[in-house]
Order: sequence, then structure tokens, then C-alpha cells
Amino acid sequence: MASLSKLASALRVSSSPGSRSIAHSAFAGKALPFYLHSPRAGANTSDQNDDNKVLRMLMFGKPGAGKGTLSSRLVNKYDILSLSAGDLLRQHIAERTDVGRQAEEIVASGGLVPDDIMIRVITSKLDAFHDKHWILDGFPRTLVQGKLLDTHLENQNAPLSMVVNLDVADEVILSRISDRWIHLPSGRVYNMSYNRPKVHGFDDETGEPLTKRPDDNPEVFSRRLKQFYASTSPLLSYYSKSKFTRLISLQGETSEEIWPKLEACIRGSFPNIRERASARRRHSLSDAFMSDDEGRPAIKTRAGSG
Ligand code: AP5
Ligand code: MG
Repeated sequence: MASLSKLASALRVSSSPGSRSIAHSAFAGKALPFYLHSPRAGANTSDQNDDNKVLRMLMFGKPGAGKGTLSSRLVNKYDILSLSAGDLLRQHIAERTDVGRQAEEIVASGGLVPDDIMIRVITSKLDAFHDKHWILDGFPRTLVQGKLLDTHLENQNAPLSMVVNLDVADEVILSRISDRWIHLPSGRVYNMSYNRPKVHGFDDETGEPLTKRPDDNPEVFSRRLKQFYASTSPLLSYYSKSKFTRLISLQGETSEEIWPKLEACIRGSFPNIRERASARRRHSLSDAFMSDDEGRPAIKTRAGSG
């Protein structure tokens, strides 16, 4: 799309040296081998032993980097739960909760929902995961959120174990976004050139119509990308200095490139995580944290309860 490629050039040119540096940074340059930072010796976590290590992972990356797509793939294959900040907000918005009413305009215009709302909404859901393996997608997005999350988890002696940074070039992302369609009730993501629905315009599982996200247009997307560089990318430097958390950067343009690296990281560091007997299918945005390994409801929760 012409407007999107213009946008890509504009973003490259207009970003400040500090904010554009991520694509050329030490983090991006050291994408392989996977480990940029190892937990320091003597870190006092309760799960240092490989047999009972718990995955508490952030899926980190620019808007459209593939956080949702790759998290779903992990959750479908492995005994891992996931929580997406964006999906949760869209659920609040759809259900017209107080949080949803406060977030609606901010999300539609590509801004960031205030930190205090986000930390409350996320930790109330996260606490229900207890000692399960989990992935958090889209939170934290500011240093304040990152520090509050660390404090919250360390108070429970359950610090983050891993941050996976999906390092995808702006141009690649911009072309993907114009092709993205979603099934709003479940959060399932499709892409007209990469991951097409079986029937054009309809969800594979329910047959319901697919929609465009209101924030997936060039103008708003440009704001989301700028917001990432200004507020979210500093978290990479923060995590590179963390005592407990391993920061891993994965580069690639296609899932064929990124997926095997991601899977190798998880399997190598968490050999105790089991594969599911059969692939999971999401039916609602909160499914990922409502079902146990066999798909039985495990935790009852609705957006409004957070
Ligand atoms: P959120 O929904 O989290 O949006 P985002 O971070 O901007 O990320 P996206 O969901 O757009 O992208 P993604 O990385 O999940 O990529 P996807 O897998 O879909 O947040 C939305 C808004 O909520 C924010 O703007 C903000 O307002 C608010 N918000 C959320 N969290 C907040 C927080 N913590 N604090 C404050 N406000 C917050 O993939 C993208 C496309 O690429 C798809 O079409 C997909 O099919 C395709 N694709 C994926 N992988 C590949 C591949 N390997 N090859 C080819 N195509 C691929
Ligand atoms: Mg997403």
C-alpha cells in the first residue's frame, strides 16, 4: 500500500536518534545467539531447578510484530496460558465496563491507557495464573508498568523468567497490518497474505464475520509505532539489567524464521513444559486463562471483574 510505505520512510526519517536506534541497536544486533542476558548467579528464585522452573514470559515487540500470533501458537501447542493486554482492553470495551469506557478513545487513537488502570487490570488476571506457565503480551508498555510488574511478581517470589523481543523491521510490519483481519470475540488473528481464513471474510472456528481493528489504519498505526519507540522500547535496556529475567531477541520476517527459534528457546530453558494432547482452540478473549490443559474451565473470570 503506497500510504504505508510512505509512512515507513517518514518514521525512519523523523524518529529521534535515541528512539530509532532499536532497529540498529545492540539488542537487535545480538539476536543470535538467543541469550543476551542471563540471570545473575545466586538469584533467589523459587524455581531455579529445571524440573520445576516456571515460565513467566513477556512477549515483547512493536505493534504488529507478531506477539499475538506467536503467543497463540505456543498456547495451542504447549501447556502455557497467555494474557494479551490489547485483547483484554478490547473485551472491556465490548462489554462497556468502566475500564472499557475510559480506554475506548485512547485505544482507537493509538495512545496508551494510563499506567494505574493497566496495572490493576493486568495483575488481577495474572494473579489467577498462580504457578502455571504463562505469557504476557502487550504489558508492560512503559517503564513505570515494568517496575510495578516486577515489584508485584517479586513480592510473590515469582519474578519474570524471560522476555522475548520480536525484532521485526518497521517496513515488514506496516505491510502486514493492512492485511490483518480479526475475529473480535476470540481475538483470533488472520492475514490475507500470510494466514488466510478458510472462507474469505469469516472466522474458521465460528463462521462469524471478521473485522478490521479500528486502530489498524495508517494514521493511527503511525502513532502506535511512535508510542512504542518513545515509551516502550526503553524497557529493553531495563530488562537487560534485570537480576532474574533473561532477555532474548529474535529476528525474522516470517514465522518460518521466528517460530523454530522461539520454540527452541522455550524447550531449551523449560524442558518441563508439556505439549498438549490436542491443540487448543480459543472461543473467547478470556479463554486462554479460563481453561486447564484438557480444555476444562479452570478459572472463572470476566473482563468486568478486573
Ligand atoms: P495491542 O492489541 O496489544 O496492540 P499492539 O501491541 O499494537 O500489537 P498488535 O496486536 O497490533 O500486534 P501483534 O504484535 O500482536 O501482532 P499480530 O500477531 O496481530 O494493543 C492495542 C492498544 O491497547 C494499544 O495501542 C494501547 O492503546 C492499548 N494498550 C495495550 N496494552 C497497553 C498497556 N500495557 N499500556 C497502555 N495501553 C495499552 O500480527 C500482526 C499481523 O502480522 C497479523 O496480520 C499477522 O497475521 C501477521 N503476522 C504475524 N506474524 C507473521 C509472520 N511471521 N509472517 C507474516 N505475517 C505475520
Ligand atoms: Mg496483538
